[in-house]
Amino acid sequence: MNIRDKHILLTGAAGGMGRILAAELHARGARLSLIDANAEALQQVAGELDGTAAIVGDLSTIDGCSAVAAGAAEAHGPVDVLINLAGMMSFRCYEEEDPAMIERIVQVNLLGAMQLTRAVLPDMIGRNQGRIVNVGSIFGSIAFAYFTAYSASKFGLRGFSEALRRELNDTGIRVMYVAPRAVKTPLNTGRIMRMGEATKMNMDEPEYVVRKIIRAIDNDRREVYIGFPESLFVGINVLLPRLVDRALAAQNRIARTFAREED
Ligand SMILES: NC(=O)c1ccc[n+]([C@@H]2O[C@H](COP(=O)([O-])OP(=O)(O)OC[C@H]3O[C@@H](n4cnc5c(N)ncnc54)[C@H](OP(=O)(O)O)[C@@H]3O)[C@@H](O)[C@H]2O)c1
Repeated sequence: MNIRDKHILLTGAAGGMGRILAAELHARGARLSLIDANAEALQQVAGELDGTAAIVGDLSTIDGCSAVAAGAAEAHGPVDVLINLAGMMSFRCYEEEDPAMIERIVQVNLLGAMQLTRAVLPDMIGRNQGRIVNVGSIFGSIAFAYFTAYSASKFGLRGFSEALRRELNDTGIRVMYVAPRAVKTPLNTGRIMRMGEATKMNMDEPEYVVRKIIRAIDNDRREVYIGFPESLFVGINVLLPRLVDRALAAQNRIARTFAREED
């Protein structure tokens, strides 16, 4: 899809990848509705991009998602491209995870994307055009120890994307799923960064991942897994999951010590 003049609703726009993606989409001539829970950071991002609507909202509730969709429609009319990028993460031993955090991760990463999609889809179907871009994770295909709630939410997002893509197959609407490996953004706290270093986890620059997301939209890609060998392991995990269990066992033992640390 050609991005120029398209109305793009981008969630998580004030985050590490969101602010770079917003600037790139703006440079490519898109009309933007930028969404984030962080009001101050969002105003700063939108303030640098002329003609951009900044909509502060909480995507963890149905009402929050409806309000965001209504705000975007009011600002720029029907949405051409919805990019579900907002997300949150926790790195903990599951038995020590805060129950409220488990709920919030699923609400934001999975239900927020589902509800916002539901809110913009009738207009897309009415016009028989549109793009839904769900930003998942390699952890949505290879579940990682100590990222259990996060992995579960991203597995859900991948399943949602696949089902909706099949449901809309005979329409002009495309559903895409883009799965980065680890990226250098504030989502990864100091503990996660230290664990990543100790386990030699590959990490990409956010600018690189943003280019991949834009290329996926340009080329109407259905699924994109970013990074090698992680993208290869996505397939191996489906065919030979026990092999991946064994390959990750040593890394998990190292990760456990960091998962138990205080923030
Ligand atoms: N960074 C990685 O290693 C990595 C790897 C693979 C996939 N991803 C995915 O890429 C996406 C973007 O991640 P990022 O690295 O850019 O993260 P980030 O820097 O933490 O940005 C995420 C943004 O989403 C916002 N947000 C969180 N909860 C929200 C809610 N309830 N309503 C509205 N906005 C909310 C955050 O606001 P607050 O700051 O106020 O919370 C933040 O501005 C996420 O879906 C993530 O799962 C990231």
